Amino acid sequence: MYEMINESAAFIRSKIDLEVQTGIILGSGLGNFVDNIRVYKRIPYREIPHFPVSTVQGHKGELILGQINGKGILCMQGRFHYYEGYSMQQVTFPVRVMKQLGVKLLIATNASGGVNPDFKVGDIMFIKDHINLMPNPLIGPNDERLGTRFPSMSTIYDKDILVKAENMAKRMGIAYREGVYLGTSGPSFETPAEYRFFRTIGADTVGMSTVPEVIVASHSELKVLGMSVISNVFREETIVDCTHEEVLQGVNKAGNSMSLIVEQLIKELDF
Ligand code: HPA
Repeated sequence: MYEMINESAAFIRSKIDLEVQTGIILGSGLGNFVDNIRVYKRIPYREIPHFPVSTVQGHKGELILGQINGKGILCMQGRFHYYEGYSMQQVTFPVRVMKQLGVKLLIATNASGGVNPDFKVGDIMFIKDHINLMPNPLIGPNDERLGTRFPSMSTIYDKDILVKAENMAKRMGIAYREGVYLGTSGPSFETPAEYRFFRTIGADTVGMSTVPEVIVASHSELKVLGMSVISNVFREETIVDCTHEEVLQGVNKAGNSMSLIVEQLIKELDF
């Protein structure tokens, strides 16, 4: 895998010579984030050697290299989900490439379902911790060049950056939550008993992404900031079917605020 990562990174470097410090995975709802950055290059995933090939029709898959205030960023517009049938190594491959390209901080965003009854659709939550109920992406032989065999996960979400981002949201008058994200494979949404179970074991939200990528980011010694838009909320008293359309609508409400926070944060980071 090490050679594959190097080849992907070399290809991207051959397209554009830009130093990048921050990698961003744009989840549902953050699609318009790229409207506000200075874009230098868009590279479709299918052109990048060893990148997973998308089999889903209409799947937006582009790596966007650009700058905010002179700071190099690399955005993934479109991510790979385990439920699509990719292996965990494929799902997390782009994070390995980011590391190879010099990224120091990964900002991973997503849409998730609220299991904390105080949460509302359209809320933004900073992820302070997670529960992984998917297969671990580090299963298999460990290449010490990529990271250690038994990485600690106790400080996976960088405290300093989290505090910085929250202070920024406060200053910008953007309300936010902080909580625990639970990662599950999907693609089916939860049964009422599962939502209840997830709440009981300490989750605030549940989603089908992010956890594999941030585990690999941490294995690669990247700093991580995780952000979630609450697209739907489980309520005991009014159990309704969760649908993909509902999720997309819920996300639209908060995408702009999340974009603003990420943009401002990158401007103020000292790397
Ligand atoms: N469950 C799992 N994943 C999700 C949900 C949910 O309710 N909402 C958005 N992604």
